[in-house]
Amino acid sequence: MDFSAYKTALVTGASSGIGAQIVRRLSAEGLEVHALARNEERLKALSAETGCKIHTISVDDSAALDKLAAELEVDVLINNAGQSRTGDILNTTAEDVDALLDINLKSVMHMVRLFVPGMVARNRGHVVNISSIAGHYAFAGGNTAYHASKAGVHSLCQQLRVHLYGKQVRVTEISPARCETEVFGRLLGDMEEAQRRFFDDYESLKPEDIADAIAFCVGSPQRMNVSFMEVLPTKQVLGGLNFAKRTA
Ligand SMILES: NC(=O)c1ccc[n+]([C@@H]2O[C@H](COP(=O)([O-])OP(=O)(O)OC[C@H]3O[C@@H](n4cnc5c(N)ncnc54)[C@H](OP(=O)(O)O)[C@@H]3O)[C@@H](O)[C@H]2O)c1
Repeated sequence: MDFSAYKTALVTGASSGIGAQIVRRLSAEGLEVHALARNEERLKALSAETGCKIHTISVDDSAALDKLAAELEVDVLINNAGQSRTGDILNTTAEDVDALLDINLKSVMHMVRLFVPGMVARNRGHVVNISSIAGHYAFAGGNTAYHASKAGVHSLCQQLRVHLYGKQVRVTEISPARCETEVFGRLLGDMEEAQRRFFDDYESLKPEDIADAIAFCVGSPQRMNVSFMEVLPTKQVLGGLNFAKRTA
């Protein structure tokens, strides 16, 4: 793998899980990595470990993102920050719907708007957006706004490639299935319960699996664009059909 085409990377949602692992991996490959998230203490610890530069910013803070984009030239943009919520559209709140669309979709749109024109001008760049199997499949237990936000990320990737036609700027969508991070603990507000319910009995992906997948895409030859990669735990499958009886 060859990362020499790129000097800098910006990773959102870098303070834990998949994002922190991407920072470790790309730093080890010699890139200057900028790590963005809200938890400053964790970012500082990651910086002490990897040498990454840190930006304590929420991805829904458009003024802070504008300022960052004015200061920073980014070759590899990894839109990874994301949140989920329990419930579905029948029992959700306006705040939860807005938060999921703002953090998971609108922020990705704005990051692309702010950082991709520079890539086009330099004719060098790579955008990696982390969607989810929730953006591609319907399944029980998923939050409606989460699914819709991730489907939006898929659509954004597809259209962005069209707009970048002829440019040396690649767009990769990574669609993970269950990965052992804090996402479910944050969802339940109880990390131990999430560990018991989602991970103890299931051999899930590890954050380093997704970081390795991303490193493969970023380090692949410049002629090659891994446009879409779905990554599942071996023992998790997608598909299923429900049919309620007339009497149900
Ligand atoms: N784990 C899975 O099973 C799975 C499956 C499919 C897709 N994904 C996607 O993978 C991505 C990474 O999630 P993860 O699994 O690694 O979960 P995680 O451990 O909960 O990490 C989420 C990251 O997003 C950051 N974040 C949340 N809200 C933010 C905001 N407003 N501004 C900036 N950063 C914010 C968090 O940092 P701060 O709290 O410090 O801001 C944290 O670093 C997400 O997009 C998620 O939807 C995960």
